[in-house]
Amino acid sequence: MTYIIAIDGPSGSGKSTISNELAEILKIQYLNTGAMYRAVTHFFLENSINEDASDEQILSMLGKIKINFIDNEIYLNGKNIEKEIRTDQVTKNVSWVSANALVREKLVSMQREIANEKSFVLDGRDIGTVVFPDAKYKFYLTASSKERARRRFLQNESELTIEEIEKSIIDRDLYDSSRENSPLRKADDAIEIDSSMQSIDQTIDAILSHMDKEDVL
Ligand code: DC
Repeated sequence: MTYIIAIDGPSGSGKSTISNELAEILKIQYLNTGAMYRAVTHFFLENSINEDASDEQILSMLGKIKINFIDNEIYLNGKNIEKEIRTDQVTKNVSWVSANALVREKLVSMQREIANEKSFVLDGRDIGTVVFPDAKYKFYLTASSKERARRRFLQNESELTIEEIEKSIIDRDLYDSSRENSPLRKADDAIEIDSSMQSIDQTIDAILSHMDKEDVL
């Protein structure tokens, strides 16, 4: 039997590291949905689409986007854009792009299609609430904003200071959780794990301890 593990939570809570390793341990697939919102943001910026774009413009742009993953790296229209989606420019704009209902509709349907037949770990903001509300396992990962800023800073992908990163994380949390379309929130039946004081292995062990024996080989 296939199953879905939904891992939601705010930026920098460790979702992608944890999900990636968990998928390897369980020998199942991993889908990083944040990377998909970032890919669309990158494409919009390249095509000078901003927050004031009309629905027609957005729809026409979305029609030109093909996203696929090879070895967990994201490709947009055949080009590997792992580096491009991590720039400060994309991070700054991804909130308004991911708040757009047309963008969400398109990406949610892609996500359901991709994770249709095999067992998957998906990480994001709305996996347990919207994309797969019937997921067998749901987790909500959190960590203090200080710790999340520290982790992002150590990734060395940003030009910002650690204080600026923390501020941008707090701003994005607020935006993501107060937006009208699929706001960031814990599903009622999700298990919350605070990873502030935990190593990656400890968090993974906590997740595995909530899973059925038959799914943990
Ligand atoms: O996980 P991340 O920081 O790479 O995600 C980038 C942005 O995408 C984040 O600000 C919120 C948005 N996002 C979303 O709205 N829904 C998802 N399922 C995943 C990400």
